[in-house]
Amino acid sequence: MRGMILAGGAGTRLFPLNQVSSKQLQAVYDKPMIYYPLETLMTAGVREVHLISTPHDLPVFQRVLGDGHQWGIDLSYGVQPEPGGIAQAVTIGESFTREQPFTLILGDNIFFGPIGLANQVSAFGGGAVIWGYPVKDPQRYGVIELDPSGAVVSIEEKPSDPKSALAVPGLYMYDGTAVSRAKELAPSARGELEITDLNLNFLDDGQLRAVEFGKDITWMDSGTHESLLESSNFIAAVETKNGYKVACLEEVAYNMGFVSLEEIAGTIEAMPMSPYRSYCERAILG
Ligand code: G1P
Repeated sequence: MRGMILAGGAGTRLFPLNQVSSKQLQAVYDKPMIYYPLETLMTAGVREVHLISTPHDLPVFQRVLGDGHQWGIDLSYGVQPEPGGIAQAVTIGESFTREQPFTLILGDNIFFGPIGLANQVSAFGGGAVIWGYPVKDPQRYGVIELDPSGAVVSIEEKPSDPKSALAVPGLYMYDGTAVSRAKELAPSARGELEITDLNLNFLDDGQLRAVEFGKDITWMDSGTHESLLESSNFIAAVETKNGYKVACLEEVAYNMGFVSLEEIAGTIEAMPMSPYRSYCERAILG
C-alpha cells in the first residue's frame, strides 16, 4: 500500500516559531516532527510515500528527507499551493495514488504504541478506515459516534457539543475511489475541502469502518505550543527511560529489511558526530 503525508498549512498557531520552519519540521525532542509519521508508515511496511506541502516549505522537506533511498523507501513530493484542506491534498496526490489504496497520515500526528497499522494494511478490503481515540477535549477534532456494535453513526468536525469523546486522529486508509469522492466535495464554511466530509461520503455508502485505539496507544497532535512541548517531553521520557530512540528511521529501515547492513553502515558513516549517530552505531551496527 502507498502512503501520503500531508505537511502543509501555515502553522500560524505556532507563531513566531512558524517563521523559522514549517510546523512539521519543528523539533519533537531530538528529531524533526515529520520523522514520527514517517516511522508510522514505514513500520506498516509502506515504502512508496508522497509528501505534500506548501511551495514555500517543500524545498526544505526535500533537503531534509531527500528521495528516501537512504531508508529504502521511495519518497516523492507534491505541492498544495493554498491551504485548501486535507481532502484537497488527497486530490493533489492523484497522480501518485493512481486509483490504488493508500494510507494518509497528517504530518503533525504522532502515534506511539502498537497501533496495528501493518495488520490493517494487509486486511484492507476497500472502503475507508478511520480510528477513534478518547480525548478530554473532543471539540478540537473530528468526533465519531459509534453504536454498541462499533459501527459509525456520525462524524462531526470540531463540534461545539460533541456526541462522544472519540476524536478522529489524522490517520486514514482509503480505497481507489477516494480521489473522485474528494473532487465531488463542496468547500466547508472555512473554504476548505474537509477530510470529515470525505469520510462522511464513504459513510453514506456504508463504506466506512472505525477502529478504536486501546489504552496502550498514545496519540499526540503537535500543532500548538503546549502540545509540541508535551510531545517533546513524552518522547524524551520514553527515550531516556528505555535507552532506545523512537522514530530513528535508519533503525526502522534496517529492522524492516528495507536496507542492508552495508547500506545503512554507509548512511551512518556520512552522519556528523552526534548523539544520533552514536545511537545508530550502537543500535544497528552493534
Ligand atoms: C484535522 C481534521 C480533524 C482531525 C485532526 C487530527 O484537524 O480536520 O478531523 O481530528 O486533524 O489531528 P486540524 O488539525 O486540521 O484542525
